[in-house]
Amino acid sequence: MRAMRILLPALVLVMTVSCGPREVRSTVNAGADVERQIDQLLAKMTLAEKIGQMNQVSAGGDVSRYAESLRNGQVGSILNEVDPARINEFQRITVEESRLGIPLLVGRDVIHGFHTVFPIPLGLAATFDPELVEEGARVAAAEAVAQGIRWTFSPMLDIARDPRWGRMAEGSGEDPWLDARMGEAMVRGYQGEVPGPSSMAACVKHFAGYGAAEGGRDYNSTFLTERQLRNVILPPFEAAVKAGALTLMTSFNDNDGIPSTANSFLLKDILRNEWGFGGLVVTDWNSMGEMIAHGFGTDRKEVARLAANAGVDMDMMTFGFLSHLEELVRSGQVKEAVIDEAVRNILRVKFVLGLFEHPYVDEAAAASVQYAPAHLETARKTAEESVILLKNDGLLPLSSGRIRTILVTGPMADAPHDQLGTWSFDGEKSHTVTPLKALQERFPGKVVYVPGLTYSRQQRSRFDDVVAAARRADVVLAFLGEEAILSGEAHSLADLNLIGSQSELLAALKAAGKPVVATVMAGRPLTIERDLPNCNAMLYAFHPGTMGGPALVNILMGDVNPSGKTPVTFLRTVGQVPMYYSHTMTGRPYNGETLLDGIGPEAGQTSLGNTSYYLDAGAYPLFPFGYGLSYTDFTFEDITIDQDSYPVDGTIRVSYTLSNTGRYDGTAVPQVYIRDLVGSLTRPVKELKHFRRVRLGAGESIRLTDEIPVSDLAFWGADGQKKVEPGEFQLWVAGDSASGDPVTFSVR
Ligand code: BGC
Repeated sequence: MRAMRILLPALVLVMTVSCGPREVRSTVNAGADVERQIDQLLAKMTLAEKIGQMNQVSAGGDVSRYAESLRNGQVGSILNEVDPARINEFQRITVEESRLGIPLLVGRDVIHGFHTVFPIPLGLAATFDPELVEEGARVAAAEAVAQGIRWTFSPMLDIARDPRWGRMAEGSGEDPWLDARMGEAMVRGYQGEVPGPSSMAACVKHFAGYGAAEGGRDYNSTFLTERQLRNVILPPFEAAVKAGALTLMTSFNDNDGIPSTANSFLLKDILRNEWGFGGLVVTDWNSMGEMIAHGFGTDRKEVARLAANAGVDMDMMTFGFLSHLEELVRSGQVKEAVIDEAVRNILRVKFVLGLFEHPYVDEAAAASVQYAPAHLETARKTAEESVILLKNDGLLPLSSGRIRTILVTGPMADAPHDQLGTWSFDGEKSHTVTPLKALQERFPGKVVYVPGLTYSRQQRSRFDDVVAAARRADVVLAFLGEEAILSGEAHSLADLNLIGSQSELLAALKAAGKPVVATVMAGRPLTIERDLPNCNAMLYAFHPGTMGGPALVNILMGDVNPSGKTPVTFLRTVGQVPMYYSHTMTGRPYNGETLLDGIGPEAGQTSLGNTSYYLDAGAYPLFPFGYGLSYTDFTFEDITIDQDSYPVDGTIRVSYTLSNTGRYDGTAVPQVYIRDLVGSLTRPVKELKHFRRVRLGAGESIRLTDEIPVSDLAFWGADGQKKVEPGEFQLWVAGDSASGDPVTFSVR
């Protein structure tokens, strides 16, 4: 057993589980009383009833079809039912007509809001504002719980470094530290401080490695080493589990040949034995059955055996447990103790959520909670903070006084469904405020709308109507990007340029000679380098959700100063994939060598230098991680640390003067990066270790101090141990991952 640093929130610590050679505290505090009740209930259950608890079905819309299975105790959980009356009916049959009356756990993918839709998770990460993200998750829980949903399949914590992968939209991007903070925030938001009757259980997913799909093609194999898993992929999961996440989902992928749904190293050694996870593990949708397609088992019986013995508690939609576990137990291939443990984990979550006492929802109250004004307000604020200003030649903010005619154009200007983004089953487009709607409201009679392209993929060779309208306008607002359908699950792309004729539209608008603001809404960082010269300013809004329109108008007009930061590296071209800021260093770092256009016909093989870069795309991205402009300017000066050398259990206090040197009030996001110069393994050139948001008035300065525990510099080294390796370090405080000068210190 490896020694792990244990930093658990006090509330989550009470009971211990004794699996493995060392006692590990459980991450789910159910209390001794509940554990007793679980044991008593378990003692009454038949094997079939136990196995029924391990079965989850997608039961949306049709209670009668499942009534018999519910009565027989063959269903532990349902997903995809959102109607409160039907949820109550499902629950009533289960609680009142089944022998033991164990309530159902009702799940749904509430990924970035329920009815009130928030920015996609990648946009949430761009806020660098965990408190606000937590508030948003609380809103999502309030709306969903009011309808009877007590379990969401969120947060998705898959580190994603390949924007071709459509599910990058659903996570926090490329960085483990940022991802971990977002994951903890969502867990707290969904579940509340202490899980109970008003909580929606969080489900951290997809465990593990799913975001590293080869080639960015969804569901594809991954080949992550244990070190890579432990140092990059798993830390956000560990953080969210230790923040008290009640459930976890296995991933679709096979890593180095082992499908996650049968990976006992992940599910037992790490999750249960090292982290002490006390909640329930569910498969992804039919991921147990898909092990047959992987070629990891011949039939459903075999994969059910593999999954149960690996530590899966609940089967989502394979029905492998329901059909085969009883037989597998009787033949001794799965021990009944394995089943008991799984059922304990499931019942624990049901008890902790207060389902036994409060199985029903107040149908009459549900509607009034949806789209509450305070919810829309939080969604608007979150959308505002998620928007990243990528370019501004001074055009923004617009001054309303001088505007008589605004041309609004582009396929995303009035796309109420698409600005909600992927996984917004329940957000209704009738409630969405698009940029067009918000602009018309703010500037009655001044907005001319000529879409140019009605959807992003449309091909057009001439834009005479749009250009004519642009000539008559004072300013052109172009809303470009990709519809919701172009990102998300199973929606990977191989080309990341603006799709269809959107770049041509922007070029035509630029040629019309009027000031142009391009706003991009997308599920991923698109390769927009060629579009930047064709606009005076560019905002990147991901898919901003229900209140995206008002949020964008507030930013365009300067009521809100943009503060979003790139949660993922923006590439110049898709051929640079993967490119991320916290890479390790080659033995031949790029040194400013010649690019293709500087190479003469007679250049020889070694005349270019021998370093690591692309002849045609260089060594750098378009925008680094953590990047985003503001209408004002910020400087970081007099960066000092309180000591030259720290013990491994010390705390680094870094102080700096942050100044707003521009003309507008604004919010800066100071980011602290470190580099461990020499290690038992080559170490990333930079790693984010702290960030915060600081609001400063125009002309104001402030002296700030951030604290970094030295223990946060620990990593899993060559000896397979997690520890801080003494030696020399660099530390930066800057506005993004590519700026600033380091200070140095050592750890002894
Ligand atoms: C996805 C999960 C999701 C589940 C249930 C799967 O296809 O991979 O993320 O939670 O479906 O809808």
